[in-house]
Amino acid sequence: MPSDTTTTVPGEPDNALGPESRVHLVPQTPSLIDAHTRIRDRSASRRDVLVHGRRVIRLLLEEAVGCLPHDEVRVVTPAGHTYVGTRTTDDVCAVSVVRAGEALEAELWSIAPDVRIGKVLIQRDHVTKQPSLHWAHLPDGIQDGHVLLLEPMLATGGSLMAALDVLNGAGVADDRIIAVSILASPQGIEHVTRARPSVRIVTSSIEERLDEAAYLVPGIGDFGDRWFGTEGNVTWL
Ligand code: PRP
Ligand code: URA
Repeated sequence: MPSDTTTTVPGEPDNALGPESRVHLVPQTPSLIDAHTRIRDRSASRRDVLVHGRRVIRLLLEEAVGCLPHDEVRVVTPAGHTYVGTRTTDDVCAVSVVRAGEALEAELWSIAPDVRIGKVLIQRDHVTKQPSLHWAHLPDGIQDGHVLLLEPMLATGGSLMAALDVLNGAGVADDRIIAVSILASPQGIEHVTRARPSVRIVTSSIEERLDEAAYLVPGIGDFGDRWFGTEGNVTWL
């Protein structure tokens, strides 16, 4: 039996930070805090970073997907009863900020296997903390739908702003972009929301502050290095 669909405008999730906020904090459940505690521990094994990092990423992505428009859908259950539910729009792409954003890709595909994922290579300079953009490869038609922008560490916000410029250049409107960050600093949120008030930000933690090296406090260290098992500076070839 075909399901019928009605387009509805999604309401603000209950956990939005105030009625007008474009910043959504993942509910701070004991399970989320457990996973955060394990991955932030400096003595965590690689295996623990990956296993418990995926738990955080799953909760974060589910929250982000919940911010997308959804349609009311009626389905008939195997018992013959009608269930009235909602289904999230399929009109969505993702873009990951290489390298660390790639850590979110597998979990996104386990939720939405058909999602096309573009990439932007942005590197933050270790000394100046300024981002440099190297290349972008985006899905065709990206401007017609919504975009999940996978940027796991929102520190100064410079890298996210550079990625937003790329998306705008490709014709994507700010109000169709949801930035997805595991950790976000108050400064980074302020930077992005002032410049781009229509962009939504979904994060699993708003940290206390940035340190002198523009790392998050208490933070997780260098997320890309911890996720991929590397150390030290990039080698430019
Ligand atoms: C890190 C991180 C973010 C960026 C955040 O990336 O993954 O992309 O810094 O910092 P910002 O908000 O101050 O710009 P980095 O360039 O170090 O590369 P990586 O992804 O390889 O770790
Ligand atoms: N990039 C990271 O990986 N961690 C931070 O705290 C800041 C930028």
